[in-house]
Amino acid sequence: MKNPFVVTGVVDDPSFCNRQHEQTELARHIENSQNILLYSHRRYGKTSLILKVLRNLRHVDPLYVDLYGTTSVEGFIKALIKGASILEPKSSRFINLIRETISGLSISFGFDPISQTPNIGASFERQPAAVDIEAVFQLIRKVTREKKIVIAFDEFQEVAGYGSDTFEKDLRKSIQHHDNVSYIFAGSQRHILTLMFNDTKRAFYQMAIHMPLDRISTVDYVDWVKDLYGQAGKTIDEMAIRDVVARCENHPKYVQEFFYTLWSARKIGTEAINAVENTIIEKRSVEFMNVWDSLSLNQKKALKLVAATGGAQLFSAANLDRFKLKTASQVVAAMKVLEQRELVSKNGEYRIFDPVFRKWVKRFV
Ligand SMILES: Nc1ncnc2c1ncn2[C@@H]1O[C@H](COP(=O)(O)OP(=O)(O)OP(=O)(O)O)[C@@H](O)[C@H]1O
Ligand SMILES: [Mg+2]
Repeated sequence: MKNPFVVTGVVDDPSFCNRQHEQTELARHIENSQNILLYSHRRYGKTSLILKVLRNLRHVDPLYVDLYGTTSVEGFIKALIKGASILEPKSSRFINLIRETISGLSISFGFDPISQTPNIGASFERQPAAVDIEAVFQLIRKVTREKKIVIAFDEFQEVAGYGSDTFEKDLRKSIQHHDNVSYIFAGSQRHILTLMFNDTKRAFYQMAIHMPLDRISTVDYVDWVKDLYGQAGKTIDEMAIRDVVARCENHPKYVQEFFYTLWSARKIGTEAINAVENTIIEKRSVEFMNVWDSLSLNQKKALKLVAATGGAQLFSAANLDRFKLKTASQVVAAMKVLEQRELVSKNGEYRIFDPVFRKWVKRFV
C-alpha cells in the first residue's frame, strides 16, 4: 500500500482524520443559510474541511473562492468569477450573462494542468466598481435561481489589504440581503479577521457565526492512524501514536508529516520517532533562520525566554536576568510584535505557537 499520509496540500480520505463534529456543524449552518467565520492558526485544516463539506452537500450548490494572493478589488472579482464558473458544467450560460451584464470585462478560457479542469480568467479594461461586485453576485443568484448555495471565501483576510476604503462596505451591501445563500469566510490571520468581524465600526461586525477550528484530539488520531496501518497490514503501538501526537501537540500538519516520514520505518520505537523529529526540524531550519534573522535583539531574547520557561514565571527577575532583558516592559513590547506575527500566542501564558519552531529555538537556549 502506498503511503496514506501526505506532506503537502489539502487532504481528503484516507489522509483526512475525523473532524466529524466540525463537518456536521459546518454543514448544518450551510443548510440553514447562515454565514460562518471559520478561523484557526495556519495549517490546521480549514481548506481541507471546507472542501470536504462542500463536496458532500446534497441540496446546496457549492462555490469555492480562493482569495489567496489577491491584492485588489479586481483580483477579488476575478477570483469570484473563476469560482462561479464551475457552477454550471459548461458554464456557458454564466459566461454569456457576465459578458452581457458587465462591460469592459474580457473573459479568457484556460485549462488547469494540475487539477485537469477547465477554468476561466477575467480581466478588466477599466477600474472595477461596486456595481460590478453587485452584478457578479446577482448573476450567481440568477444562475442558481431558487437553489440554495454556499459561497466559501478562503483566505478572506486578504480583503483587508486591498487598500480600498469602501470595499468591505460594498461587499457587505451586496451580500447581506441574500436569502438561500450561506457565506463562509475562512482565514488564518486571526487578529485581522477578528478585527474585521468584532469591531463595531467595521462592515462585517456580527455578520457571521464564529467557528474557531481547533486541533484534532488524540483519540481521533489514534483511531485514524491505527486504521491506516491496519489497512496496509502493518501494526503500530498505540503508545507510539500518542508519543508522536504529543510531540506535535496535536497540530494536524505536523502529525500528518510525522506519520508520512515514519511510514517507511521498520521498527517504530523512540529511536525512530526521535530521528523523524530531527528530520522535520532540519527541514524547516532555513525557513526558521529567515524568521529569526528578521527579529530584533529583544524579540530574539523574548523568544528564548518563552522557549526556556514554557511561559511560566516569564517576568521573574531571575528569568529576565538569564536572558539579559532589562525590564518586564521590554518583554511585553517584544511579545506584542511576536504575537502579531503569530509566533507566540497567549492563552493565559505565552507560548511559542509552532511546536517545531519551539524545538528549534530551544536548541539555542
Ligand atoms: N482532517 C485532517 N486530518 C489529517 N490531517 C489534516 C487534516 N486537516 C489538515 N491536515 C493537515 O494539515 C495540512 C494543512 O491543511 P489545510 O491546507 O486544509 O489547512 P489550512 O488551515 O487551510 O492551512 P492554511 O492556513 O495554509 O490555509 C494538510 O496538508 C494536512 O497535512
Ligand atoms: Mg487554507
